[in-house]
Amino acid sequence: MVEFQHNRDFLKDSLRKTIDFRASAQHRGLPIPPLEEPVDQQLPRISLPDRESWSLVLQETDLADAIGNRRSRRNYSDEYLKVEELAFLLWATQGQRSPGEQPPHFRTVPSAGARHSFETYLFIHRMEKIPPGLYRYLPLSNELVLIYSADKESKTRLSRAVLGQNFVADSAVVFVWTTVPYRMEWRYLQAAHRVILLDAGHVCQNLYLACEAIQAGTCAIAAYDQEAMDELIQVDGEDQFTIYLAPVGKY
Ligand SMILES: Cc1cc2nc3c(=O)[nH]c(=O)nc-3n(C[C@H](O)[C@H](O)[C@H](O)COP(=O)(O)O)c2cc1C
Repeated sequence: MVEFQHNRDFLKDSLRKTIDFRASAQHRGLPIPPLEEPVDQQLPRISLPDRESWSLVLQETDLADAIGNRRSRRNYSDEYLKVEELAFLLWATQGQRSPGEQPPHFRTVPSAGARHSFETYLFIHRMEKIPPGLYRYLPLSNELVLIYSADKESKTRLSRAVLGQNFVADSAVVFVWTTVPYRMEWRYLQAAHRVILLDAGHVCQNLYLACEAIQAGTCAIAAYDQEAMDELIQVDGEDQFTIYLAPVGKY
C-alpha cells in the first residue's frame, strides 16, 4: 500500500497552525538573505538590453491570443533567438518590475512575501551575439554571467540530465530555475517549501505566455535527474537546487 498522507499534508496549509513564527530568522533579527546569489567577480558578464530596447523588436501581442494559443511545444526550428527576445523572456520570468526601485523586492511575477527564492540558469545553444554555454541571469543589474562555455559533450550531458528528453537540448535556450530555500525559510520556516513550489508555477506560466508573443515555444519540465542537473549547473544540491526547467525555441 503506497502511503500518500505525508505528501498530501505537504500540499495543505494546515502546517501553519503548528509553526511558531517567533522562531523565524526574520523574527530573531537575522539579516535578510541576499536577493541574488553572490557572483564570482572574475566571471565575464554580458549586459542585456533594457525594456526600451527590447520592446522595439517585439510585435504587439493580444493577451487573449497569447493565453488561447499557449501549449507545450517540443519541436524547435534551427532559428537563432535574438538577444532582445531573450531579455524579454528573462524580464517576463524574473525581471524587476520597476528597475532602480529601492529596495528591489518586486518582480514581474508574484512571490509569497516577495521573497523570490529563485535563480535562473540558461543553457544557451542558439542565440545571436551570445556564444553557447551555461549562464546565470542577474535580475538586479539585468546581466548574464558566463559560468562556463559549451563543449562538444554539453548537449549529451544535458540530455542525460533530463532523462533522455532530447528535445530539451535541441532548443535555442533552456531555462533552469533553482531555489535558494533559505530566502523563504528566513520568514516562513517550515511553511516555506509549499509556497516555493507555488511561486515556480507563476514563473513558468509567464515564460509560456511571453514565448507566444515572440513566436517561440516552450515546455515545462519537472522530470529530470536531480543530482545530475545540480552538478551541471554547479549548485550544491542542499542550499540551492534545481526545481523546474523549460527549453525555448522558435517553431
Ligand atoms: C509541472 C509540470 C511538469 C511537466 N513536466 C514535463 C516533462 O517533464 N516533460 C514533458 O515533456 N512535458 C512536461 N510537462 C508538460 C505537460 O505534459 C503539458 O503541460 C500537458 O501535456 C498539457 O499540454 P499543454 O501544456 O500543451 O496544455 C509538464 C507540465 C507541468 C505543468
